[in-house]
Amino acid sequence: MLAGMNATVHLSRHHAVATVDPLVFGGFAEHLGRHIYEGIYDPGSPKADAAGIRLDVLEAVKGLGTTSCRYPGGNFVSNYDWRDGVGPVAQRPRRPDYAWGATEPNTFGTDEFLSWCNRLGATPMLAVNLGTGTARDAAEYLEYVNLPTGFTWSDRRARNGHPEPYGVKLWCLGNEMDGPWQAGHVKAAEYASRARQAGKLMKGLDPSIKTIVCGSSGTGMGTYLEWDRTILEELWDDVDYLSIHRYAMRCKSSQGWFLGEGVRIDRMLDDYRGLLGYVRGRKHSSKQVGLSFDEWNVWNTCFSPDPGPKWGVAKHQLEEYYTHVDGLVCAQFLCSFLRNADIVTAACLAQLVNVIAPIMTRKDGLLLLPTYHPIALIARLGRGVSLRPTVVCNASKHVDENGKQEVSSPDLDAAAVLEGNRLAVFLVNRTGAPLSVEVPLSGLGRADEVRATQVQHDDLMATNTWEKPQEVAPRGLVVTADGARISLTLPAYAFAAVEARVTG
Ligand code: AHR
Repeated sequence: MLAGMNATVHLSRHHAVATVDPLVFGGFAEHLGRHIYEGIYDPGSPKADAAGIRLDVLEAVKGLGTTSCRYPGGNFVSNYDWRDGVGPVAQRPRRPDYAWGATEPNTFGTDEFLSWCNRLGATPMLAVNLGTGTARDAAEYLEYVNLPTGFTWSDRRARNGHPEPYGVKLWCLGNEMDGPWQAGHVKAAEYASRARQAGKLMKGLDPSIKTIVCGSSGTGMGTYLEWDRTILEELWDDVDYLSIHRYAMRCKSSQGWFLGEGVRIDRMLDDYRGLLGYVRGRKHSSKQVGLSFDEWNVWNTCFSPDPGPKWGVAKHQLEEYYTHVDGLVCAQFLCSFLRNADIVTAACLAQLVNVIAPIMTRKDGLLLLPTYHPIALIARLGRGVSLRPTVVCNASKHVDENGKQEVSSPDLDAAAVLEGNRLAVFLVNRTGAPLSVEVPLSGLGRADEVRATQVQHDDLMATNTWEKPQEVAPRGLVVTADGARISLTLPAYAFAAVEARVTG
């Protein structure tokens, strides 16, 4: 233990974890609430182009550093027929959405999404319905999206204005199939059988695709890890990623406990590291299955106060106004993904716009919430080889509001990446006091061109509003480099991204 509020972050080239896969900076767009309608696609807005795409939203999602996007759900996908969302818009059916109690007008579907993704410069990740849909439905979807013309569905795509195959590589085989809330939820062995059949047909049609199989939808599930073990043992040789989800919930009585979230994320990833190793070992396999952490975020408000009538279109659902503390926790998610870059090879922030999202819209503009800024900074700078930091600092113990769970939470959370001679270090001060931080560069070289950006507020519950949109926003932070070490004072409850050139 150190006396006072000091922290040292030891970095070494010899502690390289893996090259960060840019897919860890993905997002997720579900047909839910005002995400698609009034979010991404809003023909009634003065900010939309002739195709109804909100240009301000597109730019904000770009600014978030979004590298990939998962679509169309989520729970929505498990009762979705992809055919409803293609073809002439006037002929598309209106359907009741089982998952969210809304009306789905289907005026936005696969072709519109893939065009949006293309404009975003993001890799699409499509989910097939394995709740109420069949393996054949999934294979026909793949045919529509990826096969050259000459077949029923690929010809239909051409007739819909897209003669060239889209070549989508990432395919989720269902969503959260371990959850009793999921349409078509079944036991693990039955889901494995569905996923095997669908995956086999899909890879048979297009061997270049990668499939993502449902793991647990959270650590709180009664089948946590056991579901995942069954799925991995059944499908190890057939799939490329295991999908896992986590939503952190703010603890009303103990902010200290909530701010220790990074410790719990690391712990969860340790569980999966062990499980992946166990199954690989049992199978005497040299294959790697990656983790697709394809739903992650803070999620505090289960229901918006006034979502609108049952079966409404674009209901105000899950409209969460995040605060500064939520941004500090989002930064810890990404820091943990970087520290575990060898196993977390894809991830999606759930979600992007209006629905548990960092971007909120109204007809004439948008608002960036506090979670936006740390995510955007890490997504922009978090490239290259992840270096495992050894952090020496004080830690304190916190319990959750029920007094049941305890976390020993170091004052400082940290992650680091090195790309060529560009070093980036990400820091979160979990405490309400300034922290004097030293980063000795032993073995990394000498630092110059050093600069830092912080997202800080003394009030953890501070947020951005339409009236004060810049209350929580990035600002410069003083940082020095004397060649052999980088030094800074990290203010209370601050996130910082430190950049330096290291040479020699
Ligand atoms: O992201 C919101 C919902 O959370 C998704 O639809 C579902 O997969 C998860 O339970």
